[in-house]
Amino acid sequence: MDWGMKNRLSKIIKPKDGHTVMLAVDHGYFMGPTTGLEKLDEMVKPLLPYADVLMPTRGGLRNYIPPETDIPICLRVSGGTSIINETNLLHEGIIVSMEDAIRLNVSAVAFSILVGQPFERDTLLAFTQTIDEANRYGIPVLAVTAVGRGLGKDAKYLSLASRMAAELGASIVKTYYCKDFEKIVESCPVPIVIAGGKKVPEKDALQMAYDALQAGAIGVDMGRNIFQSSSPVGMMKAVNAIVHKNATPKDAFEIFKENEK
Ligand code: 5RP
Repeated sequence: MDWGMKNRLSKIIKPKDGHTVMLAVDHGYFMGPTTGLEKLDEMVKPLLPYADVLMPTRGGLRNYIPPETDIPICLRVSGGTSIINETNLLHEGIIVSMEDAIRLNVSAVAFSILVGQPFERDTLLAFTQTIDEANRYGIPVLAVTAVGRGLGKDAKYLSLASRMAAELGASIVKTYYCKDFEKIVESCPVPIVIAGGKKVPEKDALQMAYDALQAGAIGVDMGRNIFQSSSPVGMMKAVNAIVHKNATPKDAFEIFKENEK
């Protein structure tokens, strides 16, 4: 691994503890004006001090994030279908050239693969093309193991998708927390972060983050459970405490409640 790749990875995964808090705000690429992100700039600004990495789209970055912002960027580079196109949901291809990703000075790029759908081959080949192009410039690729309709969020499916992502060259895998999560971690040779998924009660989201860390995840890449919370700053601080300070779910929930007032 060359210096550039190692340097970028150290911006994504914090060397002090090998953990990371990623804030996902890329939802607009297939969900449009997602609840909580209508004014993405106003939402994100107070959250940045508690995030290690920001995951936007290129339009989100250019239009809402001031260029002097001091946070590593993991840029969403896959897409191509919308949430209303049910039959093709997450049938994603490359939506950003590596040249533009470099121009945006990113530390990593994120690509969603969908294993187990008729179009899996398309997403996997575009994914490996992205890995070849990104790695040429020392840019790590985070694979999002997307889950389509009819596919279970279970360890059997997610370990298949996560291991495939790593074997195909991903540097980091983003997947969902589920029962027997440690089996996914054990069979995946690269670090794993969990997605938050749809909004759930804050207590449950914090428990999930804690359980994922206990089972071997190196952090989170959460979106809706942060920015759709009654206190996004509270959730961000609470998740940060779990990831970097080994806080219990109870302590983290207290942090959230303190900030909700
Ligand atoms: C889709 C994605 C999302 O765009 C997003 O990053 C997910 O974040 P969350 O589920 O925590 O809202 O990865 O596959």
